Amino acid sequence: MGLKVKKKNKVALIFGVTGQDGSYLVEFLLKKNYTVYGIKRRSSSANTQRIDHIFDSIDFKNNNFFIEYGDVTDSSSIFNVINNIKPDEIYNLSAQSHVRVSFDIPEYTANSTALGALRILEAIKSLKLYKTKFYQASSSEMFGKQKTNKSQNENTKFHPMSIYGVSKVFAHNTTILYREAYGIFACNGILFNHESPRRGPNFVTKKIAQGLVRIKLKKQKVLRLGNLYAIRDWGHAKDYVESMWKIMQFKKPDDWVIATNYEISVKKFINLCAKKLKIDLVWKNKGIKEVGVDKSTNQIIIKIDKKYFRPGEVDYLKGNYTKARKQLNWKPKYNINSLIDEMIKSELDFHE
Ligand code: NAP
Ligand code: GDD
Repeated sequence: MGLKVKKKNKVALIFGVTGQDGSYLVEFLLKKNYTVYGIKRRSSSANTQRIDHIFDSIDFKNNNFFIEYGDVTDSSSIFNVINNIKPDEIYNLSAQSHVRVSFDIPEYTANSTALGALRILEAIKSLKLYKTKFYQASSSEMFGKQKTNKSQNENTKFHPMSIYGVSKVFAHNTTILYREAYGIFACNGILFNHESPRRGPNFVTKKIAQGLVRIKLKKQKVLRLGNLYAIRDWGHAKDYVESMWKIMQFKKPDDWVIATNYEISVKKFINLCAKKLKIDLVWKNKGIKEVGVDKSTNQIIIKIDKKYFRPGEVDYLKGNYTKARKQLNWKPKYNINSLIDEMIKSELDFHE
């Protein structure tokens, strides 16, 4: 009988582990038997709520999950952590990821979202870790302003409409450069919007689900929103982290669009949530005066607030993920209905 050699676990390093995607990716990788290191930045209050459950969950009993301090605006912390761990796979999910906020803190956004990726790639290069694979969290926000409402794929031209989008284009192109110039296994996942109960509260889907549930339970009177007519292709973060891993296992490094190919407006998203909560919502007026009224009480429950408008807006995003479907054998399991059901249920459970 031949000797059974236990294969060493693969080691992954995640920048942005405390975020929505980071938390799902840790769970996914631990289930695949990886040893996972996550980088958290220093903050004055706890920023590990999305991952705390992993440490004592029986689902991850045999886990190998470690947290280190670091910051993608600090080259030395990146260099040291990569040098110490020498991971097989690095996932760069860190970013100042809010598009509206990027107009308010442009320099910091560029530093973390654009230069963060460069710093990690430079560390891989200078440490000569040519076996380490690199994943960059690219974004559909890079497509920005499009001339027609056609779905976007890997060949669609970028026209970013925010500092966040511009920063992501820099990181995306830098990833391609380090692949082509230095032979690093460096990939871009161009992910369209993806949501979940763990979504940050100032992104529109979470804000709507949270707000309408609170209104239904009479804990909030009005929900204030910006542009109701932007159209997005919304998927579930759980599905999308699986695509990240598949991208890293593909035979060669490449760039991939990940989406659902189903688009709806912010307004339609509100209508779907209201219907699931049995709120009889009707819309009145136009433009900045548009309001959503609860027909059963005749109360205004949705108002438009100019402060949520952006200096540059992206009107239409719909992804064509044919390449990922055919070559990675990836497709989303959730649809817009199951996504909303899960988000609403989680908000209702929170108030129980
Ligand atoms: P998120 O919830 O905002 O998470 C961002 C993560 O980056 C958090 O862990 C955050 O830490 C960390 N971070 C921010 N600044 C950092 C710094 N200076 N140093 C180290 N870490 C830092 O975003 P997400 O929705 O999970 O998205 C993950 C990535 O995918 C982001 O890069 C985002 O831009 C990109 N993306 C997201 C979507 C989407 O629809 N969700 C679509 C396309 C691309 P804290 O927890 O301390 O804030
Ligand atoms: N956040 C927010 N808050 N957005 C609003 C609001 C509001 O009150 N009202 C309307 N919107 C509109 C925005 O103008 C935008 O057109 C749309 O809702 C979606 O906004 P967000 O949920 O903030 O997402 P995003 O599309 O700007 O950016 C997200 O997706 C990108 C991928 O395309 C983020 O996750 C980015 O990090 C990601 O790259």
